[in-house]
Amino acid sequence: MKHLIAPSLLASDFANLQSECEMINKSEADWFHLDVMDGVFVPNISFGIPVIDFINKHAKKVLDVHLMIVQPERYIKQFKEVGADVLTVHYEASTHLHRTLQSIALEGMKRGVALNPHTPVSLLEPVLEDIDVVCLMSVNPGFGGQNFIPNTYKKVEELRKMIDAKGLSTLIEIDGGVTMDNARSLVDAGANVLVAGSFVFKSTDPIQTIQNLKNA
Ligand code: DX5
Ligand code: ZN
Repeated sequence: MKHLIAPSLLASDFANLQSECEMINKSEADWFHLDVMDGVFVPNISFGIPVIDFINKHAKKVLDVHLMIVQPERYIKQFKEVGADVLTVHYEASTHLHRTLQSIALEGMKRGVALNPHTPVSLLEPVLEDIDVVCLMSVNPGFGGQNFIPNTYKKVEELRKMIDAKGLSTLIEIDGGVTMDNARSLVDAGANVLVAGSFVFKSTDPIQTIQNLKNA
């Protein structure tokens, strides 16, 4: 399977969300990556349920919602109602991760789990069968435009081995600091989904940049 590209709207022009959505619709991007931050789990506040509701009216592709919030289990139904297809919670924010994953599946969404850069992939061993997408944070969550953390490669390789050893089809998503400098190496290491915020939206031709990432 060719790797997927998920532009992160965190770096987009919030005053022109409709045209930003239309640009992604037109491009070779596969998913919309939507970063929800609560100012508690991460030191930043982005946007929440009502904004995703508006994005959903224009977005014609998979909505990949990345929750950087404490107690994400409180909002599972609400994110389903505004169109989330993939709902990702942080391992570090989920006391009862297994139950949370069950609730996400019950709502008919794909189950995502994100790991901070310091969290070992081995911790997912007991729940790997219950996860559709593992999101490896390649920056510390909270802000766009940060530098990629090289240790991510090792985590991708280790996770790829775990997934293959179990014969699972769990996707590996990489989030943070993705550019043309690391896209190919990440895919070679075993990544399936590349999130890119600043690299896409701060480029002069975002559609071309997405195509370049897709062909990396
Ligand atoms: C960071 C977010 C990322 C962010 C990526 O907390 O989860 O999705 O938007 O942005 P870039 O690609 O600029 O690092
Ligand atoms: Zn994200």
